[in-house]
Amino acid sequence: MPGPKTQSERITAFDLQPGRLLANRYEVIERLGGGWEGEVYRIRERTTGIERTAKLFYPHRNPRERAAKFYAKKLHKLRQCEIVIQYHTQAEITFRGARITFLVSEFVEGELLSQFLKRQRGGRLMPFQAVHLLHALASGIDCIHRMGEYHGDLHDENIIVQRFGLGFDLKLLDLFHWGAPRAENIRDDVVDLIHIFYEALGGAKHYAAQPDAVKQICCGLKRSLILRKFRSAGQLRGHLERMSWE
Ligand SMILES: Nc1ncnc2c1ncn2[C@@H]1O[C@H](COP(=O)(O)OP(=O)(O)O)[C@@H](O)[C@H]1O
Ligand SMILES: [Mg+2]
Repeated sequence: MPGPKTQSERITAFDLQPGRLLANRYEVIERLGGGWEGEVYRIRERTTGIERTAKLFYPHRNPRERAAKFYAKKLHKLRQCEIVIQYHTQAEITFRGARITFLVSEFVEGELLSQFLKRQRGGRLMPFQAVHLLHALASGIDCIHRMGEYHGDLHDENIIVQRFGLGFDLKLLDLFHWGAPRAENIRDDVVDLIHIFYEALGGAKHYAAQPDAVKQICCGLKRSLILRKFRSAGQLRGHLERMSWE
């Protein structure tokens, strides 16, 4: 029998294999990713066949269940924001003698924004498309900011493109969940949004040739200028809805 985990026996990987049962209710389909605090798997609920996502926390990253609780509560608080993945439930498994908590959320079908952008001609969007992308993000995140919350880790690997037509249907994953919201967190989200927009347009290489309307949004990526113009995602959204290309 393995004894209690010591620091030197820290779990730093789960590497669960397809077919493995979790809490007798879910079956592992595949590993989706892994990061600082745990791993993410695509799973199937056995009784219904419905696919979900499980986020498993490394015990040393989840002392007294703090991380799992905070994340679940944050997702639950934001359940009316359509852009945020929906939280379902919490469960646990035993792994090498340790109790591991996992959070079950909806599984979002689609493509990471990073992959979507790579697939575009020249690896970038045209200005009109990029404005649509930014508008979808700003509108979705406006809902989060209005609730006094923030995302905290906005980048193109935490955004899933579900559908792309005239506009974008997006979902946000992986919200930062280690602290109560501060005004600074909302400002960081706004600046991150402008960076995503800038990169989606091809970054520094193509910036000089962008139309004025784009430059007025990017503000040369100067944080103080961006924040003078847009204090929240809602203000950015308002700007996009009133802007003119001429
Ligand atoms: N609900 C979900 N639906 C679909 N894919 C997901 C979902 N959650 C995570 N993923 C995939 O797993 C990857 C890692 O998950 P994420 O929550 O970003 O954790 P981390 O970045 O900490 O590893 C994501 O980039 C995405 O590809
Ligand atoms: Mg992530």
